[in-house]
Amino acid sequence: MDQFDERHNADTDYRLTPQDRIEAKEDYGQNCSANDTMGDIIHRRFSRRGFLGGSLAVAAIGATVSPLALIAADQARAASASPFDFEEIEAGVDETHHVAKGYDADVLLSWGDKLFADSPDFDPMSQSAEKQRRLFGYNNDYVGFIPLDGSADHGLLVVNHEYTNAELMFPNWAKIGKVTEDGTEEDGVIKGEYTKELVDIEMAAHGGTVVEIRKVDGKWRPVLDGKMNRRITAETEMTISGPAAGHDWLKTSADPDGTKVVGTINNCAGGVTAWGTWLMAEENVNNYFMGEIKEDAPIFAAMKRYGIQGGEYAWGQFHDRFDVTKEPNEPNRFGWVVEVDPMDPNSVPVKHTALGRFKHEGCESVINKDGRVVVYCGDDERFDYVYKFVSTGTFNPDDRAANMKLLDEGTLHVAKFHEDGTMEWLPLIHGQGPLTAENGFSSQAEVLIHARLAADALGATKMDRPEDVQPNPKTGKVYCMLTNNSKRKDEQVDAANPRGKNKFGHIIEITETDMDFASTKSRWDVLLKCGDPSVAEVGASFSTSTTRNGWFGMPDNCAVDAEGRLWVATDGNNEKDTGRTDGIWAVETEGEGRGTSKLFFRVPMGAEMCGPCLTPDVATFFVAVQHPGDAGLPTFETPATRWPDFKDGMPPRPSVVAITRQGGGRIA
Ligand code: FEO
Ligand code: CA
Ligand code: CA
Repeated sequence: MDQFDERHNADTDYRLTPQDRIEAKEDYGQNCSANDTMGDIIHRRFSRRGFLGGSLAVAAIGATVSPLALIAADQARAASASPFDFEEIEAGVDETHHVAKGYDADVLLSWGDKLFADSPDFDPMSQSAEKQRRLFGYNNDYVGFIPLDGSADHGLLVVNHEYTNAELMFPNWAKIGKVTEDGTEEDGVIKGEYTKELVDIEMAAHGGTVVEIRKVDGKWRPVLDGKMNRRITAETEMTISGPAAGHDWLKTSADPDGTKVVGTINNCAGGVTAWGTWLMAEENVNNYFMGEIKEDAPIFAAMKRYGIQGGEYAWGQFHDRFDVTKEPNEPNRFGWVVEVDPMDPNSVPVKHTALGRFKHEGCESVINKDGRVVVYCGDDERFDYVYKFVSTGTFNPDDRAANMKLLDEGTLHVAKFHEDGTMEWLPLIHGQGPLTAENGFSSQAEVLIHARLAADALGATKMDRPEDVQPNPKTGKVYCMLTNNSKRKDEQVDAANPRGKNKFGHIIEITETDMDFASTKSRWDVLLKCGDPSVAEVGASFSTSTTRNGWFGMPDNCAVDAEGRLWVATDGNNEKDTGRTDGIWAVETEGEGRGTSKLFFRVPMGAEMCGPCLTPDVATFFVAVQHPGDAGLPTFETPATRWPDFKDGMPPRPSVVAITRQGGGRIA
């Protein structure tokens, strides 16, 4: 079965929850190049170093932490000199959220909450697109905080709304029924029929939110008459900038110039720039396009590399632009990084083509010591790549208008990891190396629109689903979350890299040379191999100080706080695979405690942990609980939890939670 067919199976496997189906689609990889996988390289690196060899090494790695040692670690924890001062919570699975003792975790904004003084009341039984455009969107993912008036107690919260779960949003729509898979009949969730009205509600629940918030008497509240409050949706007009603007491949019947797009979709993680703009990363945009591209069409190979056609959503039934049969170039207008100026509610968001087109997981930036802006991006697909963009111009703290042009021009690089612990950042520049017209790249625009193909040609390293990539400006290190890759074949692994079917993911630490984030030659190491360290076969590498609650699987979003400490959010932990829900783990990166992890917060069942974001004074920790209740056989009527309202008739609502220390003070 080829990879394309596998995706279609995932689409129609109704034993899977909708989120599982999307995950399954990320589980096949569109990258058919012969480039090395990260697994090949980690394996060769550690084999070559001679750390471990032979089948004994599997047991040796796994046996580094026994269950008894984990219990001893629990007891020793209090005496350790961790940079994280909090009492770890118990890992587990239940219907609500939990935070470390001495902290409050208050729901700040939920799907359907008012954002404007004139917002309508939310009634899940009576939804409309018009109402949804004035209410907080669905499935909050990235959260950023932009202080106002230099205050850490007053600012703008910017939140991405990644996608929608129709079966949990709409009453009397999805049903539990018998489905037949592989000849076996079992219960599954069967979707209802889409109408234009439902599709338009979905489009209005996507995008993002800008909302003014203020801390009063220690508690955060939205300011409903905030002048900058704004919803961005799949219908918001935006412009295209950078080298690919106006290219033929971006032209459609609605936009013959190839310079304007309606909407942004599947905004996963993101970033806030030094000049106070918000970067929204467009990730799994392929899910939104229906229609067929013929195998003999010239664009077929490129569209296949991007996973276009046969998407999860029905938008193309009612909006031609989401049907590739009618608008074959529309998919090229998505998969970019979008910059929004949240200070001006009338500003037109910009899609920056200089940062390349792929499944952008996030876009975290840092001002380099020479003033250039460096933006790190993961391309979240099995066997895809890690990128960084280096601007041509430099940041000027006194010229915000000029800063807002910095992402228009620069060099996109892709990571190639070597087994000796070195790595290269290879530039994606038209005319250099294989990136020539003979190989299908006639201009820099084509290199960027087909960034994945260009990176294939350069020989970039195939990774295990790169998610958030976070620079630490204090140390020159960069943390790369590789969430999992169940498609890595067993024959690709051995004793030194026991990660066939890399179910739990790992974290790579890049060290940029001499604190130069624009460096093209850097070093790398594995910070953590994730999973249960008490199970030998898993081969996890948490420090022996990590307790039975402290380990996690599937790292996804992450944050580095103002003190340079790493916080990891996860996606995919559950009762069956890890005996715990997703959450926030504090991970030590330096000194003797390196590789020690502690559980700070956990989500209700069915949810994924997003955000995370700490205020500059490290006194508030904003986290985003995404798709709560999406477990088992989830429908509007049968969610796995009704968090956070716990009211009959009210479905679970994705929510941003504000965590503060009781009595005030620094988090952890
Ligand atoms: Fe939207 Fe890769 O997580
Ligand atoms: Ca993510
Ligand atoms: Ca991040």
